[in-house]
Amino acid sequence: ERGGYPHFMLKEIHEQPKAIRDTLLGRVSPDLSRVTLSELKWPEGFVKEIDRIHIVACGTAWHAGLVGKAVIEQLSGIPVEVDIASEYRYRDPIQTPNTLVIVISQSGETADTLAALREAKRRGRRVLAITNVVGSSAAREADDVLVTWAGPEIAVASTKAYTTQLVALYLLALYFAQERGRVSQDELHAILKGIDGLPQVAEQVLDTAPQIERFAKDWAHASDTFFIGRGLDFSVALEGALKLKEISYIHAEAYAAGELKHGTLALITDGVPVIALAMQDALYEKTVSNIKEVTARGAFVLGMTWVGDEELQKSVDQVIYVPHTLPLLAPIAAVIPLQLLAYYAAVARGNDVDKPRNLAKSVTVE
Ligand code: M6R
Repeated sequence: ERGGYPHFMLKEIHEQPKAIRDTLLGRVSPDLSRVTLSELKWPEGFVKEIDRIHIVACGTAWHAGLVGKAVIEQLSGIPVEVDIASEYRYRDPIQTPNTLVIVISQSGETADTLAALREAKRRGRRVLAITNVVGSSAAREADDVLVTWAGPEIAVASTKAYTTQLVALYLLALYFAQERGRVSQDELHAILKGIDGLPQVAEQVLDTAPQIERFAKDWAHASDTFFIGRGLDFSVALEGALKLKEISYIHAEAYAAGELKHGTLALITDGVPVIALAMQDALYEKTVSNIKEVTARGAFVLGMTWVGDEELQKSVDQVIYVPHTLPLLAPIAAVIPLQLLAYYAAVARGNDVDKPRNLAKSVTVE
């Protein structure tokens, strides 16, 4: 049942190229000129009337939502807020009649996310669920559903659900942009071409697994680690840190790279391991100067950048190179080495990778 893999988590990490491909199937025109989300039965004119979006989710799905916010705002111009479901349900959020609420949940059964969904519906909002389980409560109770076709995710640590949630959010952002006339045909085509290439990018990133396994042997001894990045890289850093904590039990903190000197830098001393993502071309120089801030304090830095970058290696101790895609799509490429790092560190520490202590796959209690 584990298809020859020692753990479900490793199997699911390796299933990502297929999961991404399946989630794209039938949603992009063959000539890469349009997004078609025929499952969305939105009333005539609704897409044009949406004036804000609230994304609500927990854990990894919340991290996907953070990427979703950046991408939807950038491409469609619609203002987006992202909330942790257990916060949203108790905070009396300001909604307009044309606020679209998007809940993201792999299982579709997370108690806090469902409560947020129900509260939004009670207030008369239209709710879209992005979920991996067709018959789940979220799928049944939402007005519209975008299914992520990741297939069953068994390991407690979420991997392929995250990458397919990102794919669904990219498609949705492009769909908004297309329907609201916010994107030129050329730009739409360029991004769709990038998205179409993601399964192959994921495949190539998986080829780095043996290298990550070697790195993970060093990381397995760490007690405190930091993940830093800017923009979308920061969102991926949050996800990488969660993975590491969840299964390897190594304390990890994700920080917006520019925020370090507002307190966290005090914790960077000799030998403290830092993972630094430098995938956002427009923010590259700024990130490198933050990397220099930590190396100057003796941090041991594992950097991540695009294949072909000759610069980063001069400022860090180890580098992971990932195949090129658009910076907008970098989270899909960047998260995979972080999933692998957490996995191999957990294995090296002898942990129960698929069933980490104190955690359940689906959190159906408040
Ligand atoms: O099923 P859901 O997507 O609603 O689950 C949300 C979180 O419980 C989940 O993503 C959790 O954070 C993962 N175990 C993290 O790997």
